[in-house]
Amino acid sequence: MCGIVGYTGGQEASPLLLDGLKKLEYRGYDSAGIAVQNDGVLRMIKASGQIANLVEKTDGGAALPGFTGIGHTRWATHGAPTDTNAHPHMSNDGKFAIVHNGIIENYAALRQELTDRGFVFRSETDTEVIVHLLDMYYRGDLKAAVMHTAARLEGSYALGVLCADQPGKLCAIKMASPLILGVGVGENFFASDVTALVSHTKNVIYLEDGEFAELTPENITVYDCTGKPVSHSVSRVVWDVEAAEKGGYDHFMLKEIMEQPRALKATIEPRIRNGRIVLDDFDDAFRVCFADVRRIVITACGSAYHAGMVGRYLIESLCRVNVEVDVASELRYRDPIIDDQTLLIAVSQSGETADTIAAIKEGKNRGAKVLSIVNVVGSTIAKLSDYVIYTWAGPEIAVATTKGYTTQLAVLDLLSVWMARERGLLTGERYDELVKGILALPERTQRSIDLNPQTGYLAERYRDNTSLFFIGRNMDYAVGLEASLKLKEISYLHSEAYAAGELKHGTIALIEPGRLVVALACLDSLFDKTMSNIKEVKARGAKVMAVAREGSRRIFTEADDALFVPATDPLLTAIPEIVPLQLFAYYVAKANGCEIDKPRNLAKSVTVE
Ligand code: F6R
Repeated sequence: MCGIVGYTGGQEASPLLLDGLKKLEYRGYDSAGIAVQNDGVLRMIKASGQIANLVEKTDGGAALPGFTGIGHTRWATHGAPTDTNAHPHMSNDGKFAIVHNGIIENYAALRQELTDRGFVFRSETDTEVIVHLLDMYYRGDLKAAVMHTAARLEGSYALGVLCADQPGKLCAIKMASPLILGVGVGENFFASDVTALVSHTKNVIYLEDGEFAELTPENITVYDCTGKPVSHSVSRVVWDVEAAEKGGYDHFMLKEIMEQPRALKATIEPRIRNGRIVLDDFDDAFRVCFADVRRIVITACGSAYHAGMVGRYLIESLCRVNVEVDVASELRYRDPIIDDQTLLIAVSQSGETADTIAAIKEGKNRGAKVLSIVNVVGSTIAKLSDYVIYTWAGPEIAVATTKGYTTQLAVLDLLSVWMARERGLLTGERYDELVKGILALPERTQRSIDLNPQTGYLAERYRDNTSLFFIGRNMDYAVGLEASLKLKEISYLHSEAYAAGELKHGTIALIEPGRLVVALACLDSLFDKTMSNIKEVKARGAKVMAVAREGSRRIFTEADDALFVPATDPLLTAIPEIVPLQLFAYYVAKANGCEIDKPRNLAKSVTVE
């Protein structure tokens, strides 16, 4: 989705803005642009397609000299991805340039009003109304113009404003879209994502919704929507620059798959103290809240929803609490049964997914307490929630999530064992066994990587299958859902995941000679049942690649090929089990020459509904 950056300081702004935009590339975009203020004049250059086009058009930034500027990567919503629709947008008199991330819901009415007043629109975007409003309200006082403009806008926005009359000054405004200020020495920044800031400063300010900030090289002043100054403490970002770089790997996705043991360790170890699971600093408060919980609803999108599916098996099995898992974009359209005895668990890597945010709001309106599992500190979802458990995966750059997903699973493992103990449902011995099993997950994950050097070869063998199926039961099924999504999003092969017993109720009609079926069979208790389903598809000519426990010989009585997963407690199998399938998806996409880190049509952080 869109990304924004802004800079004011003693260095040439354009090269810094282009660098910031490159760091935001991973979020998905289709055009980009920058605007710079120089000697009381604003100039901008925009280009559709890759940032490389913009770099070329601006001669690496040399074509736009000046020390204050703004930049944008656009993921088209209103109007095609053309140069004209790309941001920045400029006022008719050239006094203002703006960049915008979000959607202005009342733009049609505003556009009509501004057209009637004589403003000329050049683009088809919702954004352009903002720049004309600023122009209309400006009487030499930027702060007043910003406040008047913000009061007219409905929807979500992170805005960066540049004004020809205000040398060295930038304005940044936030409403329901991510926006972070970077605090430097003799220079200041803003961006929609910390990855664009960390190579310049790790000191940041997280703005609240409705706030806006004026930035000069020496100062940052934050105001609330009434114009009253508000003080903010400066936070320190824990991610380092290397974390957002490829570090010798061909793709971010492969790097992130390989980083999983480390990310899991960082997520798990601080939460186990003296053999006991501790939920960060809210252990006691959450204990009181949890005592009243009668139902749990897990809500999320995409892979995070698949993590929620694993969570349901875990929590129901360990805690004997009724758990529903709901796709966030559907939750509020079905009059859900949520009340003050419901715990809503929201799962999100980015913390900015619009549908998940809407589901949380719906849950809160109905009285639920919200616990979120989030990777990005200070994100909207983290702020909206009563309790937050962060996954310490570090920045995830590849669009297809890997370490984001497995660290979500690790938190769900910790949480469900914590809750089961709280309900008195675990013997001391079983509790210790599960805690030990969770602590071993980073090592099990590494073993999963090491056990499967054949994934590249298998990917070559099966890369031509244009349509395939993943089957499994219980937790194996939940992992199959994620494995199937991973494959389809980066390799563009059609794939579906089915509960193994469900296939014969219709979909088996699609099984024909040569069709690949990936059968997940890591749960000993269900192994024989899944083997029967494997036999059914084999009888119809399918090729079967199984995922089975390390050492399982029986699998080869039916499977053509196999990937292996180290022995783990059955309840904790999902993390090591997904790893060879992530690698399989990666190598199939690579063999087919696909754009792995930035698959077509996808964005990293889906901030529109
Ligand atoms: C798939 C993927 C998406 C996200 C989904 C939710 O690889 O990454 O399906 O899981 O868009 O995103 P977050 O977790 O940021 O809420």
